[in-house]
Amino acid sequence: MSDAKGRGSELPVNVKELLIRKALERRNKKTEPSTQGTGHLNAAADRLRRAIGGISENDCRFDRFPAYQRLKAQMLAVEKLRLTNPFFRVHDGTPGSRTVVDGRSCLNFASYDYLGLNGHPAVRKAAHEAIDRYGTSVSASRQVSGERPVQRDLEQTLAAIHGVDAALAFVSGHATNVTTIGNLFEPQDVVFHDALAHNSILDGIRLSGAHRVPFPHNDWEALDRKLAQLRGSHKRALVVIEGLYSMDGDIPDLPAFVDVKRRHRAFLMVDEAHSLGVLGSRGFGIAEHAGVDPKEVDIWMGTLSKTQAASGGYIAGERVLIDLLRVQASGFFYSVGIAPPMAAAALEALRVMQAEPERVARLQSNGRLFLDLARERGINTGKSRGYSVVPALVGSSIKTVRLANALFERGVVMQPVVHPAVEEGMARLRFFISSLHDEQQVRTAVTWLAEELSRVSA
Ligand SMILES: Cc1ncc(COP(=O)(O)O)c(C=O)c1O
Repeated sequence: MSDAKGRGSELPVNVKELLIRKALERRNKKTEPSTQGTGHLNAAADRLRRAIGGISENDCRFDRFPAYQRLKAQMLAVEKLRLTNPFFRVHDGTPGSRTVVDGRSCLNFASYDYLGLNGHPAVRKAAHEAIDRYGTSVSASRQVSGERPVQRDLEQTLAAIHGVDAALAFVSGHATNVTTIGNLFEPQDVVFHDALAHNSILDGIRLSGAHRVPFPHNDWEALDRKLAQLRGSHKRALVVIEGLYSMDGDIPDLPAFVDVKRRHRAFLMVDEAHSLGVLGSRGFGIAEHAGVDPKEVDIWMGTLSKTQAASGGYIAGERVLIDLLRVQASGFFYSVGIAPPMAAAALEALRVMQAEPERVARLQSNGRLFLDLARERGINTGKSRGYSVVPALVGSSIKTVRLANALFERGVVMQPVVHPAVEEGMARLRFFISSLHDEQQVRTAVTWLAEELSRVSA
């Protein structure tokens, strides 16, 4: 090693190169015979210097990332077409059936707060009390900084609502899917997912390294065929579906999916982000809606950001699954525990949901009314079942942005969905319904939508 030290002075002093040289040294030590001496180190450093010289400027600057180039092109197009950007608008106050944007009170059809519990006095109070008692953060993972009763109470309530043994709360709904799928499954496994699966499901599958197999939207027969083809050549199989699809407002045939997964000895995971609080007479989700025993589903997943008026996510299922995730899911084990005010808000929202099932009934009847009125006016609502999400399919992205802006001018906010979030030609305006809307608000929104739609098609 003294020889290597001596030769070290001939090698580059640049810190980055030095670090890489050390790494190469370590690697070469593992792979090359010790009799080789240190000439190979200098050769490796020469190769490295040549390689660095050949690195393109495009690969060293954020403004050369293709995604940034696409964003710039889109912004230019919006400017050229004199379109106002309908995204990232700033809201003031607590949004309910109305929201204040740019100082104007607008009808609000752009919130996932389907049960109108964000800002509910009891939910606010619970969050305040949790801050007073525990502070705003638990500052570290639950293994390190310990647990808080409110986190455990939330998990027990979620497990009881889902009719399973246990639940585990995470700090984000997106992270819940990524870490659960990503850390439970492995490259020898196969994961089947609905073609309209949320990005967090796809990111989780990518992290797992498992073979990813999409199947056509809600098509359990196609899934059955794909499982028959591929199940045998993989170790474990997972099927991931959602309780209610937020792009289209439709729902899967849960009993059929349960039957398929059972026949092929696969796990079934259901993401209830948009169906808890929305489906079933008590809002207990798609199992209640479909009359399926919740234990037939292996992994229940949900977010706390929608009907639970907080932020975070959870997994509910058999005790073994939850014990496994407590140590296996990096997004739980290496991430901070859910913040007390968020856990308390979600817990209280679940209590209100159970104490006031009329909220769920009102949401469902508002959704039905929106859908019926839209259909009467000849609006293309696709496959929506009208529970909490009703899309108006427009087609072109530019038309969709123009419509969103025109409706905003009239005083209603909703969510435009344009390319690349959907294929070009499939752009739409999405209306999220709330139990807080009254009949007149629903009628006004549909009337304005129909009027603006006929204006852009004229
Ligand atoms: C189906 C689905 N799963 C997961 C998530 C992620 O949840 P969160 O936004 O709470 O992180 C979303 C978000 O909208 C979703 O729609």
